[in-house]
Amino acid sequence: MQIGPYTLDNNLIVAPMAGVTDRPFRQLCRKMGAGLAVSEMLSSNPKVWKTDKSLNRMDHMGETGIRSVQIAGADPDLMAEAAAFNEKNGAQIIDINMGCPAKK
Ligand SMILES: Cc1cc2nc3c(=O)[nH]c(=O)nc-3n(C[C@H](O)[C@H](O)[C@H](O)COP(=O)(O)O)c2cc1C
Repeated sequence: MQIGPYTLDNNLIVAPMAGVTDRPFRQLCRKMGAGLAVSEMLSSNPKVWKTDKSLNRMDHMGETGIRSVQIAGADPDLMAEAAAFNEKNGAQIIDINMGCPAKK
């Protein structure tokens, strides 16, 4: 499967799951054969980017494979800012949360 310039090893994709798809889990999924594992969602609100939780989620150190980061929000300018911020931070693909079962 091809997403933009990125070729996945296969078409098995681990969905973004808040509280589940953290970096160790993504790496485990990759190791077990996933072609892509998407990050937990990150808020597009820059006010929360400095919290321990967000900083932890933004850490891609040593992450193998294609880095796909999900962002969540409703304001187009903030979403664009969050996309650019995460691209600078190592995201190769930006996934936009379009509504998910997580209560937050
Ligand atoms: C625990 C849990 C957390 C989830 N968190 C997110 C999330 O943060 N963002 C999102 O877009 N979807 C989230 N989802 C939805 C999943 O990404 C996926 O769309 C959903 O589980 C349906 O996938 P399936 O059709 O492969 O079963 C979550 C699902 C679960 C079960």
